[in-house]
Amino acid sequence: MKLIKLSAIDSTNSYLKELVKTAPFQDEVVVVATRQLNGRGQHGAGWQSQPSKSLTFSMFKQFESVLIAQQTLLSFCVSLALYEVLVEYKIPDLSIKWPNDIMSRQHKLAGILVENSLKGPHLASSVIGIGLNVNETEFNALPQATSMKLATGKTFQIDKLLHDIATAVFYKLSTIARQDISEVKKAYESVLFRKDRISVFETPNGIQKNGRIRGVTLDGLLTVEHDDDQWSHYGLKEVKLLY
Ligand code: BTN
Repeated sequence: MKLIKLSAIDSTNSYLKELVKTAPFQDEVVVVATRQLNGRGQHGAGWQSQPSKSLTFSMFKQFESVLIAQQTLLSFCVSLALYEVLVEYKIPDLSIKWPNDIMSRQHKLAGILVENSLKGPHLASSVIGIGLNVNETEFNALPQATSMKLATGKTFQIDKLLHDIATAVFYKLSTIARQDISEVKKAYESVLFRKDRISVFETPNGIQKNGRIRGVTLDGLLTVEHDDDQWSHYGLKEVKLLY
């Protein structure tokens, strides 16, 4: 893997997407920034990070025979690879909050932004951005955030963490063409945040409903069983989990 270290950049995802346009022959490139000035999150949200305390990086991976329909598999694999590294680091009470957040107890530890390039029926490449809270001890105005240090009381080596995560993600993605989506879905569901627990969900028109997360579909929708016995499958912008 090739590692590019930047002291400051707007967004490592945006930088890497531009970079690979001019050097399309490169695969397994990682860009990490000490200071990310305009980090991007899911649904057009931002991503805040504290320089030198937080890990903000993006990975570029090319594919040869992965179909567009396997984008969900890719998304599950990235979340699971990061989750598994954090298990190795003994972070307590880890789970994956649908679709891609990594949680420790009730708090968000990491976010993932996957941006795919398609070519015909195939997935040509992905830029996978990860924001991981590592050694922060406080979060101003982010009550739902936590860090590895807050969760464990320990200080972590950011460079080693980057190496371990990038190695695990690239390895899992290199096996994607031979992965069985049902098995990967099962593994993902087994660590899903608030699975089977009564939770409150809000739809974009502000309606709140109780329900229990029962799992995900093979195309990545969230399956919820509501109190009135109705089962719903929600896409990305269709529901918000209020806990
Ligand atoms: C989310 O939870 O909404 C996803 C956050 C993803 C943030 C990371 S930080 C590195 C990479 N560069 C970005 O601009 N975003 C991702």
